[in-house]
Amino acid sequence: MKTIDELLAEGVTGKRVFVRADLNVPLSGTTITDDGRIRAVQPTVEKLAAAGARVVVASHLGRPKGAPDPAFSLAPAAARLGELIGGEVAFATDTVGESARATVAALTDGEVAVIENLRFNPGETSKDDAERGAFADQLAELADVYVGDGFGAVHRKHASVFDLPARLPHAAGDLIATEVGVLKKLTENVERPYAVVLGGSKVSDKLGVIDHLLERADRILIGGGMAYTFLKAQGHEVGSSLLQEDQIPVVLEYLKRAEEKGVEFVLPVDVVVSEQFPDLGAKAPTEHRTVPADAIPAGFMGLDNGPETNKLYASKLADAVTVFWNGPMGVFEHPDYAEGTRAVAQALVDSSGFSVVGGGDSAAAVRILGFDENAFGHISTGGGASLEYLEGKTLPGLAALED
Ligand code: 3PG
Repeated sequence: MKTIDELLAEGVTGKRVFVRADLNVPLSGTTITDDGRIRAVQPTVEKLAAAGARVVVASHLGRPKGAPDPAFSLAPAAARLGELIGGEVAFATDTVGESARATVAALTDGEVAVIENLRFNPGETSKDDAERGAFADQLAELADVYVGDGFGAVHRKHASVFDLPARLPHAAGDLIATEVGVLKKLTENVERPYAVVLGGSKVSDKLGVIDHLLERADRILIGGGMAYTFLKAQGHEVGSSLLQEDQIPVVLEYLKRAEEKGVEFVLPVDVVVSEQFPDLGAKAPTEHRTVPADAIPAGFMGLDNGPETNKLYASKLADAVTVFWNGPMGVFEHPDYAEGTRAVAQALVDSSGFSVVGGGDSAAAVRILGFDENAFGHISTGGGASLEYLEGKTLPGLAALED
C-alpha cells in the first residue's frame, strides 16, 4: 500500500486528488451530533492541501436509495470540514454532474471541495459490476489521483471504494494506515489477557466476529440488546426484550465452544428494565427498575446493564492487557439507560491495557457521554469495517489499495 507521504514525495501540486472519506456522521436534522469522522480525515485533507493538491472529498452519508434526498445531504459535513480546516470548502450539489464538474474545475492549488453524497447515484452501491464501473468511470474524470481514507466504508464493495482506485494511481490516507496498524495489534501477537466487549442490538450482526474471537480472545463480555438472546438461550425469560429467537441454536453452540476452549463468556447478571422503550427525543425521565437478569418480568424489556453487571464487567476488564469494544451496553442515548455503556467506557479509561473502541455507536457513545478520546488507546471510525477486519475477511477497500 502506498502511503500518503510516498504520494506527496512524488508531488501532488496542481493535481486533483480524490479523497474517499467516511463522512457518515450522525445528524439531528442538519446538526451534526458527533463530528469524529470528519476530524479523523482532516489531517489527510490538510496534508494534501498544504502540498498544493486540489482536494476533492467524497463520501456517503446514511442509506439513501440511489437518488438525491435532502435528508442525507453532505452539505453540513462540508461546512464542518471548512470550520475544522479553517478555510473555504466548496460544495458540489451533485456527484458527477454539472455542479461537481464545475466545482472541481474551479479549484486552485491547495483548495478543497466536497461533492454530494455518493449514494445519490445508484451506481455507487450497485451489485452489478458494469453499473458500478460506469459510475467509477465518471468519478475518475474528476481526479488525477485517488486517496482511500474512508476506513468506515472499506468493507463495502462500492464504486468509490473498490472500483475507482483501480482506475487511478492510488494511495492509502493516514487514517486508514492508523486504523489498520491498530487492528493488526488485535489480530497478530495479541498481548493477553485479551478481553472483548460486544454490545448493540443484534446478535446476527456479531456472529462472524464471535466465531472468530472464540479462537482468539480470553474473555467475551456481552451486553446491549443482543444479550437477551444469550439469556434466553440459557433458559431465562426475557419479557419483551429484544430477541432473535432464530439465533438461539447458534448462540448455544457458541456458549458450548467457549466452555470447551476455556474462553470466559460473561453475560449480564442484572439489567435495567421498563415497560416501554424511552422517548429518545424528549429524554423525559422514565419508569424503570433493576432486576436480576434471570428474572425479567413479563411485559418488561431490558434496556441497560444493571449496577452488579457494571461492577462485574469492570472487574473483568481491570487486568486485561488488550481490549476491543464494539456496541453500546444499553440505550445510552437516554440518561436512564446510559450507565452500562458509561461503566464500560470508564473501565477502559481506568485500565492500563491497550483499548480499542470499535466504531459507530460505541465511538459516538464515548464522545456523547463526555469521555476524553485520548484516554482510550484508539477510537476506530469503522464499526462494521473493524468487525469484518477482526473476522479476518478481505475488505474490498483495502484490497483495492494494495497494488
Ligand atoms: C458505517 O457507518 O459503519 C459506515 O459509514 C458504513 O455505512 P454503511 O453501513 O451504510 O455502509
